[in-house]
Amino acid sequence: MENKEIKTDQRIIVGATGASGSPLLIECLRQIRDTAGYEAELILTPAAELTLRQESDVTLEEVKGLAVRTYAIDSIGAPPASGSYPTAGMVIVPCSMHTLAGIHSGFSDNLLLRAADVTIKEGRRLVLAVRESPLSAIHLRNMQELALLSNVKIMPPMMTFYNRPDSIDEMVKAFAARLLLPFGIKHQEHREWTGI
Ligand SMILES: Cc1cc2nc3c(=O)[nH]c(=O)nc-3n(C[C@H](O)[C@H](O)[C@H](O)COP(=O)(O)O)c2cc1C
Repeated sequence: MENKEIKTDQRIIVGATGASGSPLLIECLRQIRDTAGYEAELILTPAAELTLRQESDVTLEEVKGLAVRTYAIDSIGAPPASGSYPTAGMVIVPCSMHTLAGIHSGFSDNLLLRAADVTIKEGRRLVLAVRESPLSAIHLRNMQELALLSNVKIMPPMMTFYNRPDSIDEMVKAFAARLLLPFGIKHQEHREWTGI
């Protein structure tokens, strides 16, 4: 990893919840780490740690090692809990329906939810890689109302086939790159559409 000078507008808060999608979290952290000038600060919910164990052989400590620092979920006085802590915004990957509901209602009873609330109120980018299937009317209402906020992007991890991926890994890398585009990261894994 190269020695990087971080500008505060290139510090990305990465939230991880107990929805399915740990490989996407890991890939986002890798891409941020590998992009000059950017750094990730990580907040995991307890359910995120559980799904990580289920879905990946990458250990929790290895995941934490991809970020410059990790905050405990209950450290409600940590820097991302305040709007005066400058960041480029926040990506929640994956984002559960539980956390989506908390953000939608402004119910900030842990650091991840508080950081998302702060991101919205400060007008910074908030990217939500929401995952559930099927989606209920409650889930859809929460997403629809949050999507009305100009700084919130709802980005469910959707499979793409038009780029003819050879593997799930390739799909994960391409989607992680898309999640980071709103922060100005144009990773080599991002495929620009050149037309048919
Ligand atoms: C293996 C596993 C996969 C899960 N996948 C999802 C999912 O895709 N979407 C979702 O909303 N919840 C999913 N859940 C349930 C959430 O983990 C659960 O609602 C949890 O309370 C979310 O809490 P959090 O938002 O604080 O992480 C899953 C749980 C497990 C154990």
